[in-house]
Amino acid sequence: MLRVLTSRTALRAPSLLRPFSSNVQPGYVGSTEGAPRTTADTAPKISMLLELRDKPGALHEVLRYFWKYDLNITRLESRPKTLNALGEARFDFFVDFESSSKNSNQVSSLLASLESMTTKAMILDEKDVNWFPRHLSELDLIANRTLDAGADLESDHPGFNDQVYRGRRAELATVAQQYVWNEPIPMIDYTADEVATWAAVWDRMEGLLDTHACAEYKRSFKAMKEHCGYSRDNIPQQQDITDYLKDKTGFRMRPVAGLLSSRDFLNGLAFRTFFSTQYIRHHSMPLYTPEPDICHELLGHAPMFADQDFADFSQEIGLASLGASDEDVQKLAWCYWHSVEFGLCKEDGEHKAYGAGLLSSFGELEYACADYRPAGGTEDRPELKPWDPAVAGVQEFPITTYQPIYFVAESLNDAKSKMRSFCEGLKKPFLSRHNPNTDSIWVDRPVRRAVGVPEKKDFAASAVCYRYNGEKEDKSADDALAPFLAGKMEEIQKAMFEKVKNERDDHLVKVHEWKDFTPNLEKGNLILTPWCGPEFQQEEEEVKDKSKAEGLERSGGEEDERCAVSVAGKTLCIPFDQPDLPEGTKCFYTGKVAKCWVLWGRSY
Ligand SMILES: [Fe+2]
Repeated sequence: MLRVLTSRTALRAPSLLRPFSSNVQPGYVGSTEGAPRTTADTAPKISMLLELRDKPGALHEVLRYFWKYDLNITRLESRPKTLNALGEARFDFFVDFESSSKNSNQVSSLLASLESMTTKAMILDEKDVNWFPRHLSELDLIANRTLDAGADLESDHPGFNDQVYRGRRAELATVAQQYVWNEPIPMIDYTADEVATWAAVWDRMEGLLDTHACAEYKRSFKAMKEHCGYSRDNIPQQQDITDYLKDKTGFRMRPVAGLLSSRDFLNGLAFRTFFSTQYIRHHSMPLYTPEPDICHELLGHAPMFADQDFADFSQEIGLASLGASDEDVQKLAWCYWHSVEFGLCKEDGEHKAYGAGLLSSFGELEYACADYRPAGGTEDRPELKPWDPAVAGVQEFPITTYQPIYFVAESLNDAKSKMRSFCEGLKKPFLSRHNPNTDSIWVDRPVRRAVGVPEKKDFAASAVCYRYNGEKEDKSADDALAPFLAGKMEEIQKAMFEKVKNERDDHLVKVHEWKDFTPNLEKGNLILTPWCGPEFQQEEEEVKDKSKAEGLERSGGEEDERCAVSVAGKTLCIPFDQPDLPEGTKCFYTGKVAKCWVLWGRSY
């Protein structure tokens, strides 16, 4: 009935008029979730369960009504044949179709049409899933859910006692926190100290990258020196990198103040978006950082996103993370760790690095790829395993030392293919697809993003959507929603009651003669008739049998139990509020003197 959508803007909730006197069971909850834009990908959907008798052409007969009412089916799934209590074969079909407030009348007509053709037509509830962004703009809702503030340094951080450095970290954290999805990424004016730190890392890494980085990385890195401002003496800007990547693979960078949860971080990849820090490590230890920084992001990660296979691979992980269970998110995060961060691939009989944790760490790059042991490093050698997401997804790893195990893919394409197969095997609550034209996520069934919804403080504005009439009110983040909503409840209840009452009144007819009885039953009307009295129970049964027989005749005499039952008239009640009954009024069936008005309806 009422949903509070907390986003910058929100979709208008669909309003579905349930057909009066239908056999459709309650439970409609059309999805109101979605991107701030009404697109085909994020259009709310209705899921319906249809039970059909097993006979040739049964499904065709039903589906043609979707076409007739211009309802776009997005999923059709059959279930194995079952037998009912009478031993009759039945098929269940699940049908998803697009829904909006604009086509509620067609939906009502569809439901009315399906009544006589199905043994069951049930609108299914949405499925509750972990919250996930449906549109690129909704990354704004999670970008600031950092596990640290980006400026809170541990006591063993090299910059912990440097107030200037801490102030700079706070400044850059603010830049990231204030970033909005559809604005240019702010240019950072890096200081001389920061550029010097970058240069120190560059000097140490450049030669090693030539030797140990995969061919895809080297190709992209070379191009980005030309197009994105990569050089020893310049820290590239995220916007320049984004402009380049968008042309190559559709990937983009997005500033973030600190570490995100695995779920939020991976969700960004579904939109081909990489959350990237903007600060740099402390200048006192240029070759060490306890956390991801701009050297890691721009030297390690960014060039790889210019490769199509790697970009697809990364997005595959992101899409699989949308709405996934916590258990599966961990598996995906561990796959990410063993590939995007520390992956190796084969190249001309050698092992080359494509993981950013290696491509931005001179010591570990040598440790993982070189025949010799890294200078000043360990004599140990790592274990190499073939890339297998099922194994990598449960393979624990250290975060403060070199990796004891690396996974080696045959190629980036091989890494992608295996990741895709693994993701397809996960038990996901829905299937998702990213539409790059609308930057939105299409899902194959109605879902309600009910778990882990971003807190209100993360939102710039809210919208209150009223499902019963499809209207919406925008509210600012400062509005006190709780008292507002409490006050709205009575208004909503009254409005809904009036709506249903009007619907009933529209379908209430008086019938004085038998000839009008069955036709009005067929229209789904409630029928008031003059009646000779409650003691005439035998005649009451006769009305039921006779209307059933007439219904059979009008339907061509087909022996179909659904048809016979559905047009039989059944007494509902003797209304408390009796209309005037002029003296001499005759019972509509027996012709005796009427004593009261009786309400009839269809029997189901
Ligand atoms: Fe990283």
